Amino acid sequence: MIVATATAGISRHDVKDLALAAHGKKRILWADHDMPVLQQVRERFEAEKPLAGLRMSACLHVTAETANLVRALKAGGADLLLIASNPLSTQDDVAASLVADFGIGVAAIHGEKPTTYYKHVAMALDHRPHVTMDDGADLVSAMVFIALDRLSAFDDKQKPVRDWAEKFAPADRKSLFKDVIGSMEETTTGVIRLRAMEKDGVLPFPVISVNDAETKHFFDNRYGTGQSTLDGVIRATNMLIAGKRVVIAGYGWCGKGVALRARGHGASVIITEVNPIRALEAAMDGFQVMTMAQAARVGDLFITVTGNKHIIGKEHFEVMKDGAMVCNSGHFDIEIDLVALTEMTDHCTVGVRHEVDEYKLKMGKKLYVIGSGRLVNLAAAEGHPPSVMDMSFATQALATEYCVKNKGKLPNKVLPVPREVEEFVATAKLASMGVTIDSMTADQTKYSTSWEHGT
Ligand SMILES: NC(=O)c1ccc[n+]([C@@H]2O[C@H](COP(=O)([O-])OP(=O)(O)OC[C@H]3O[C@@H](n4cnc5c(N)ncnc54)[C@H](O)[C@@H]3O)[C@@H](O)[C@H]2O)c1
Repeated sequence: MIVATATAGISRHDVKDLALAAHGKKRILWADHDMPVLQQVRERFEAEKPLAGLRMSACLHVTAETANLVRALKAGGADLLLIASNPLSTQDDVAASLVADFGIGVAAIHGEKPTTYYKHVAMALDHRPHVTMDDGADLVSAMVFIALDRLSAFDDKQKPVRDWAEKFAPADRKSLFKDVIGSMEETTTGVIRLRAMEKDGVLPFPVISVNDAETKHFFDNRYGTGQSTLDGVIRATNMLIAGKRVVIAGYGWCGKGVALRARGHGASVIITEVNPIRALEAAMDGFQVMTMAQAARVGDLFITVTGNKHIIGKEHFEVMKDGAMVCNSGHFDIEIDLVALTEMTDHCTVGVRHEVDEYKLKMGKKLYVIGSGRLVNLAAAEGHPPSVMDMSFATQALATEYCVKNKGKLPNKVLPVPREVEEFVATAKLASMGVTIDSMTADQTKYSTSWEHGT
């Protein structure tokens, strides 16, 4: 099928332009400097080859940080095909360098249309992986629909995946993925989808929820999304955040990070929530909390990070101030109801600035959408900095090793990352930062693990 050949040292690929490789290599090596834990894992993988003989398909943001993850997996012996988990986050030069300089298969093109995206998903399936890695559960979802022979669930844009599945007889589709040992999931939205599959009894293999590791969401979702979301907004608009009213929908791990950074820039931050505990936390952290209906009237900049759909819709656009800006940093591009906005629009100017579209509404005012409603930190900036992805991706690599070592022993459920992996990652990260911490004395350990010593 579409899979390009692996001739003359060039791996399988569908990338924009291999001539971009030299610049991409510089970016990959620059990110590598700030990923000391992943480097350590890569060096051990190189020596021990824990993934030897395994085919892997990974559907992740194709960035310099991800490049260093897939380098570590390749060092461990995996034969890898990397595809994009988001059409706007691909760094074309990085994709080119992975193919040309590191011999890793990549199918990802910045700005790819939905049918190309699903052509790449079909390539990832055609790689017949033993292990998969997802950021949003797109690969696992495709596999589940195919295994259940529910090909009618694939719409027109997903036709390449349906075509791929139709090459096999219906009776054979169930066993197409029988060699999959397991999968790793990178983000909150993916974990939600996977738990729903587990609940419905259709999860076909174990999935390790890397997102739920403390070494991931405490840092990546909070500090990574916090910094890079604001970075995306600033790069796209060049707006001064100080003095603005910034409305953040969702006070989860990502929302907390974005709120913290927006406050640090001098914004007056407003939080909207549906969870009373998170709303209370936001209020006690010193933020204003209100409904979106109230916030829509006063906000200058709106950032959604809920993982839910239609957080900002028609009734909100109607009351927003002239010139208000909206963007999203949650996984899918459904948090802002762009269909409703388009229906209200008289004229849309795409690209008034890079990654900023101007919607002139029929009612006269102008609203601005940054990053087409997709993850703004990846569409308009470079995603999370390497230092924080160091922890997420070291956790990914070590979770993969754990999954493979325990082949056939893990249940078909969404499973946590083992505690030893998390402790290794945190300890190695602290060491790389030159931070040392205390250890409990024997007496303290005894005290803290017994019930006999009271006050
Ligand atoms: N931009 C990035 O690089 C990046 C990084 C990590 C995660 N994510 C994505 O960001 C999203 C949030 O992740 P998280 O880890 O913060 O999740 P989380 O579950 O910790 O937080 C989400 C919050 O949104 C709230 N919420 C749900 N519906 C809402 C509504 N209608 N109005 C207001 N609040 C609502 C929930 O109550 C919850 O507190 C997910 O889609 C995740 O996949 C993005």
